[in-house]
Amino acid sequence: MTQFYGKTKICYGNYALDTLEELPCSKAFVVTDPFMVKSGFADQVTSHLGRHNVPHSVFSDVEPDPSLETVKKGAAALLTCKADLIIALGGGSAIDTAKGIAYFACKASSEMNRPTLLAIPTTSGTGSEVTSIAVITDKEHGVKIPLRDESLIPDIAVLDARFTRTVPPSVTAATGMDVLTHAIEAYITRNHNAFTDLLAVQAINYVFKFLLRAYKHMEDMEAREMMLLGSCMAGMAFNNSGLGITHSMAHALGGHFHVPHGLANAVLLPYAIRFNSFDAGVRCRELARVIGLPHENVEEGTKSLIYAIDTLNDAMGIPARIRDLRIDEKAFFAAVDVMAAHALEDLCTATNPRRPSLGDLKELFAQAW
Ligand SMILES: NC(=O)c1ccc[n+]([C@@H]2O[C@H](COP(=O)([O-])OP(=O)(O)OC[C@H]3O[C@@H](n4cnc5c(N)ncnc54)[C@H](O)[C@@H]3O)[C@@H](O)[C@H]2O)c1
Ligand SMILES: [Zn+2]
Repeated sequence: MTQFYGKTKICYGNYALDTLEELPCSKAFVVTDPFMVKSGFADQVTSHLGRHNVPHSVFSDVEPDPSLETVKKGAAALLTCKADLIIALGGGSAIDTAKGIAYFACKASSEMNRPTLLAIPTTSGTGSEVTSIAVITDKEHGVKIPLRDESLIPDIAVLDARFTRTVPPSVTAATGMDVLTHAIEAYITRNHNAFTDLLAVQAINYVFKFLLRAYKHMEDMEAREMMLLGSCMAGMAFNNSGLGITHSMAHALGGHFHVPHGLANAVLLPYAIRFNSFDAGVRCRELARVIGLPHENVEEGTKSLIYAIDTLNDAMGIPARIRDLRIDEKAFFAAVDVMAAHALEDLCTATNPRRPSLGDLKELFAQAW
């Protein structure tokens, strides 16, 4: 049996935020990061609640790559405030923190019913607003732990591109390449299906058409809107199909050296595609065909896909090698064995089209250096 699951109600475009006013709730708990408070975005959300006399509290301690400690702190705050609506406002870090908070609060107290989870992504992005995953970092051991549970899927996603207008170019580039990695990995993974293919291809087309525009012109709202939709589509695709070793390796590299998630994916993606082309070359060629790249044969299709990614990375100042991510060479090679072991165990490796060995992953890290 083949399945496609999508439970999140998606509200997008202007006035999408008005959906807040239709939600039955007695108390709201807003999970966000300090930038969202400083920029006034959090006020835009809480003013909707205020207009309808919904009491609320704001937890704004989210840091990039949220830690277990932050999630636990937030869960304790949620248990105290007893909200029945959680609003996650921010990038993947804020949304994942909110998911983790809901999850751990429910585990900690039998009196706590799972609150309604509403996500407002402000990056395009992780697609976390529609996925059953929350990536939490164990800072002590330098490991990113992807938590997966159906209860983590948000009930509502509000896609309002005005919240992404302030994303600086370097973050636009990295998060946009995360979208591309989700979509390409969803397309070539073992578990892809007709529905995930459709969403992945559309997301890839949006990235190649709109990412550079959003990177070059922060105020290009059409590009911002299409990237936000593409991000959500890629999220729906990979939530059903799974991902691959680009993500497994990016989780390991990010956990050890604090490389932003999208940037790690952007650098690793061409190396992973080359490795996967032994088993997924036909899918790479097919992808090159549907997105209009040269694809005479498997080799040409794979090469042109990699070339398109390299060119996009280069146009946005993303380096082609890990050595250019300001990582010390000695520290990197000292960590390769552990990173390869973490990547091998990562959830995403199970759905990679080609089964890697520990040695393959070490070799890939070395190649990408
Ligand atoms: N749950 C999932 O399905 C999933 C999928 C992929 C990645 N992730 C995880 O998500 C996290 C990364 O999320 P991200 O890439 O969205 O970055 P992020 O949430 O860490 O944000 C990156 C930076 O951008 C800033 N920012 C966010 N929105 C902004 C805006 N509108 N204007 C200006 N600055 C803004 C943040 O304050 C932060 O400093 C990682 O921990 C990654 O592992 C989760
Ligand atoms: Zn990702």
